[in-house]
Amino acid sequence: MKEYYGALCTKVYESDKSVANNKELDFYLSFANGKKVLEPMCGNGRMLIPFMQKGIDIEGFDMSEEMLKMCMEKGKKLDLEPIVSKQRIEDFISEEKYDLVMIPIGSFSLVPETLVDRSLQNMKSVLASDGKLLITIVTTPDEVEEIPEWLKTNELVIDEELIKEYRKVHYKEDEKVLFIQLKYESIVDEQLVKTELMDFPIRVYGLGEFEDLLKRNGFKDVVIHTVKDGYGEGNVFQVFEISI
Ligand SMILES: C[S@@+](CC[C@H](N)C(=O)[O-])C[C@H]1O[C@@H](n2cnc3c(N)ncnc32)[C@H](O)[C@@H]1O
Repeated sequence: MKEYYGALCTKVYESDKSVANNKELDFYLSFANGKKVLEPMCGNGRMLIPFMQKGIDIEGFDMSEEMLKMCMEKGKKLDLEPIVSKQRIEDFISEEKYDLVMIPIGSFSLVPETLVDRSLQNMKSVLASDGKLLITIVTTPDEVEEIPEWLKTNELVIDEELIKEYRKVHYKEDEKVLFIQLKYESIVDEQLVKTELMDFPIRVYGLGEFEDLLKRNGFKDVVIHTVKDGYGEGNVFQVFEISI
């Protein structure tokens, strides 16, 4: 059966993305001082937990129970109680207004094309009138290494459980979708005890294309920031700073 950010996928994510890198963190923190913050698609709290540690008033939501569970457990170890809930961005409604809504690490590219406008409208409806929305997307790749057959891409041991990750990759250029399939295997005492399959389609965008999409959705001011070394030495990513 297919799962989405299930238990095994969550353990692998947590193993190398437990806490946001300092450069990335500092960028988002620079918008957050004294603000009421919402992090849609907050996952394991990679960003939300360090925000809480800095005393920022932040809430989050995510559609994956396992990622939220990881976020809560991580918070508990630090005597924190993250305010997170299980919700989908395309269905998110709230009476609350937030000064800052942020969706880091390209997560918005996980929203299927048919739900993008609806999701953006939901975010707009919870922004304070002078609030800001910070969004990252996965940008159109220069080239894609197609992986037609299962290829092992990760292997780790956590508490005597061996987890193997395999993937297939196909770029559907006409749909601008990087279609990744993931398979996770849990092996305990040399026995395969669980397999998790996950479809992981990523909608990739050109920067101009995404800016047009934001304008079409009624967002007025759009500033594109470039964050150098944000995810670690040598990489660069862009963040859209959007006002209504
Ligand atoms: C790449 S992880 C990012 C997690 C976290 N924001 C971070 O910075 O590490 C993407 C997250 O988006 C969540 N997600 C994907 N589609 C979603 C949707 N439609 N509504 C809410 N959450 C979603 C997944 O469950 C996953 O936890």
